[in-house]
Amino acid sequence: MNISSYKKYISEETMMGPNSVRILAELLDKYPLQLTDDDLILDLGCGTGLTSFVIAKETKAKVYANDLWISAEENGKRFTQWGVGEQIEPICEDANNLHFEEKQFNALVSIDSYHYFAGQEGFFQEKILPFMKDGGVVLIGIPGLKDEYTNCAKELLFDWLGDDAYMFKSPTHWKKLVGSHDRIKTVITWEMDCFEKAWGEWIATNNQFAYGDRQHFETIIRPYTCFVGIYIKLK
Ligand SMILES: C[S@@+](CC[C@H](N)C(=O)[O-])C[C@H]1O[C@@H](n2cnc3c(N)ncnc32)[C@H](O)[C@@H]1O
Repeated sequence: MNISSYKKYISEETMMGPNSVRILAELLDKYPLQLTDDDLILDLGCGTGLTSFVIAKETKAKVYANDLWISAEENGKRFTQWGVGEQIEPICEDANNLHFEEKQFNALVSIDSYHYFAGQEGFFQEKILPFMKDGGVVLIGIPGLKDEYTNCAKELLFDWLGDDAYMFKSPTHWKKLVGSHDRIKTVITWEMDCFEKAWGEWIATNNQFAYGDRQHFETIIRPYTCFVGIYIKLK
């Protein structure tokens, strides 16, 4: 995927953390989604909908853009402005309580958000799997701990994240958390390559949260954390 085609959409207003388009690009390059305009993708925790826009452009599929903190109205306005109002449906629901039809989605993508709500065993099987079509694909990219620091989030990240440190888990830990099921064929987790670029593009902005991250980048973020990639293929 050529990320430079989306440069004008990636801004201080649309970014909510490390460059989500870069994280998405790595996932799509590694596991290309071969979909048509009849297919349906869920972008879960889409924030301002930047990734939903890119997914729509790259795959041609219909996208449901779901987020909790950003309203459907706000995202809907942005999609209309970006010329994709017909292809992307904005939704505002808690990932713990989604209201979709059974086996509705061919694919689910979730960037920098799955760690907020999915860190318990059984979450994927109970809250996500029912909505996925047989043969479906799930691509997730989230910040986490490097494998060598598995289970050390509290002591290593507390000065940066306070009580939210527990959300950061290693690739090995996420593989265990996703777990198994009769409908799951493969689960692969790994440390992603886009760490330096995605973080660099975020901390270079003037966003107030980027300022806080900049203070901790060299001492905490770079030494202990990574982006965890999660690929799930269903039977
Ligand atoms: C750091 S932002 C990332 C947004 C976007 N994916 C990106 O990368 O720019 C985390 C997002 O997770 C979403 N989120 C957190 N908890 C959620 C929940 N329980 N259900 C749905 N979305 C949630 C928030 O609404 C927020 O937009």
